[in-house]
Amino acid sequence: MTEYETIRLERRGRVAWVTLDRPEALNALNAQLMRELVGLASELDRDDAVGAIVVTGSERAFAAGADIKEMADKSTAEMREADHFGPWLEFARVRKPVIAVVSGFALGGGFELALMCDIILASETATFGFPEIGLGVIPGIGGTQRIVRAIGYPKAAELVLTGRRIDAAEAERIGIVSRVVTAERLLEEAAALAETIAAQSLPALIAAKAALDAALETPLEAGLAIEAEQFTALFDTADQKEGMAAFREKRKPEFRHR
Ligand code: CAA
Repeated sequence: MTEYETIRLERRGRVAWVTLDRPEALNALNAQLMRELVGLASELDRDDAVGAIVVTGSERAFAAGADIKEMADKSTAEMREADHFGPWLEFARVRKPVIAVVSGFALGGGFELALMCDIILASETATFGFPEIGLGVIPGIGGTQRIVRAIGYPKAAELVLTGRRIDAAEAERIGIVSRVVTAERLLEEAAALAETIAAQSLPALIAAKAALDAALETPLEAGLAIEAEQFTALFDTADQKEGMAAFREKRKPEFRHR
């Protein structure tokens, strides 16, 4: 079993809870945290006992960005060489549903990490923003690309170009988060959401995410073809037979995730 220093893993049924754990730096995403989180996410993606992954932080911070102290003195050549941000692509390629559960600061790279997840559930204490412009840089792990796709260019441009922080209510209103709940109820609601998802057929979840991802990557006709193929391929799974048999027999399906 791999030992982690910057994250914690807890398995609850078919849900894997991954907690960012660098309280001294408000969970800033340094190279070690990135390596540990990306490596663990890939492992969980290959683990048949896992149906959904939750990524969360502390009450005070989901993550306050990439680690500024780690990169402050680097040159362009050193940043290229270190490829600090490349591995995040692997995180974004996880095939299973990933839910960001956000309390407190989700800034810069922390916001970008949340945007790499499929669903963001936020506490009313959550704060989102791209402070990079005020540091003389720009978002570097997908922020400019994913925020435009999530909320459209005009609002995305305002957030990236000003660095303005928004609260949970505004994040919900403009479509960044799927739901805002009270701080007291956050973990309970997150567990209910993650368990609901993880109880579904795993092949269907993976197909659904692949089809949703295609909507961001491809023109409509190509996306429709990907959806049709994902849909059709599920007809060779035991879970499709079980799901439809259960409907006819007026009972709940018992998915075996194959
Ligand atoms: N990197 C490194 N350390 C960080 C950090 C970060 N992104 N964010 C917070 N910390 C550290 C602070 O330096 C501080 O450590 P010390 O006590 O050793 O000084 C500790 O965490 C607690 O933070 P504060 O004392 O600043 O706490 P606060 O409540 O006064 O302020 C905050 C909280 C507003 C989030 C403030 O910490 C802050 O502005 N953080 C930086 C946010 C930011 O600019 N993020 C973008 C980073 S760049 C990026 O992410 C690039 C990219 O796209 C890849």
